[in-house]
Amino acid sequence: MTSLLGIKLAPARVPWKRRLQTAGVLYHFWANSFTIVLVLLLFPLMFFCGFAPIVIAYGIWMWWDWNSPYKGGYVSKWLMNMRVHKWFCRYFPISFHTTADLPPDQNYLIGMHPHGVIAVSAYNFMSNGTGVMDLFPKINIHTCTLVGNFWVPIRREWLMLHGIINCSKESLNHVLGDSRKGQAAVLVVGGAEEALDAHPRKHILTLQSRKGFIKIALENGAHLVPCFAFGENDLFLLASNKEGSLIRRVQSFVKGLCGVSPVIFYGRGIFNYNLGMLPFRKPLNTVLGKPIPVQKTIKPTQEQIDELHSTYIRELTELYEEHKGKYGIPEENKLIIR
Ligand SMILES: *[C@@H]1O[C@H](CO)[C@@H](O)[C@H](O)[C@H]1NC(C)=O
Ligand SMILES: *[C@@H]1O[C@H](CO)[C@@H](O)[C@H](O)[C@H]1NC(C)=O
Repeated sequence: MTSLLGIKLAPARVPWKRRLQTAGVLYHFWANSFTIVLVLLLFPLMFFCGFAPIVIAYGIWMWWDWNSPYKGGYVSKWLMNMRVHKWFCRYFPISFHTTADLPPDQNYLIGMHPHGVIAVSAYNFMSNGTGVMDLFPKINIHTCTLVGNFWVPIRREWLMLHGIINCSKESLNHVLGDSRKGQAAVLVVGGAEEALDAHPRKHILTLQSRKGFIKIALENGAHLVPCFAFGENDLFLLASNKEGSLIRRVQSFVKGLCGVSPVIFYGRGIFNYNLGMLPFRKPLNTVLGKPIPVQKTIKPTQEQIDELHSTYIRELTELYEEHKGKYGIPEENKLIIR
């Protein structure tokens, strides 16, 4: 491998298969980061250069469509099945493993752990990249994300076409309360707070105080499914931010202000292996646990919520312990639940 000033360069001749995989990652990177820049530049430019009607028409559409992200959105199986998603998944590669079936006569709330820096494992559910559409052909899967993502024009439609919805309570109730059944919502429970702990080979979950999703599951009688992504925390390197350090306090402060964690991380670049914003090529194994049956309870008591919360943590821990050995996690590496 050639090295320049400590940067490990990629060889000039890389097989096409691998180039396409990197293109798959760049595509998602673009869809997630650059639509914001594009829209900020393109829309004003169009507005002042004779394309104002298009910009205005889009504005009217966005206003009319504003509530879709918490009314289940709209899914395009065609877009979810695009080849670029397969390239993306083969880059790491991402594999999806099930331990039980999800019968279509129930609704499900799938809890994803850990969040990692950008929750790559959530991509398992927003495309057919790992073949998830064939595993559960009768289940409509909705992945939940922060509301702010739907404020960006174009990107909001892109997200919804991949089955992604607003992660608010109303939004979850809409999906999980659907009497047609066969609906599943995927929630990355630890959220932005957990992203701050996404250090490689550590599994620190923000879960002890998160009980809102348990209450929502009870109110709707949605079965809870724990899901663990082995390798999620190995995709980037994080700056050290120990609990109580100045940098951690600043990060928590910013997170409190805007809901997004300013994680300081780096990965690899397009043409090198150790400097950039792209994730490392490391295997990601997502294991979906078995559903925990939940009895519909209109007004659950704190006791009922606490009980289901402990059951959930127990099942998640068992899932982790049972499968960690296969994915190279040593016996002494335990889940830390905060
Ligand atoms: C998401 O949910 C919140 C809370 O219900 C709501 O205020 C917001 O308008 C929703 N956002 C979108 C884009 O639907
Ligand atoms: C999903 O991908 C698999 C291959 O991974 C493919 O065989 C299947 O046809 C796709 N499913 C749908 C519903 O398009």
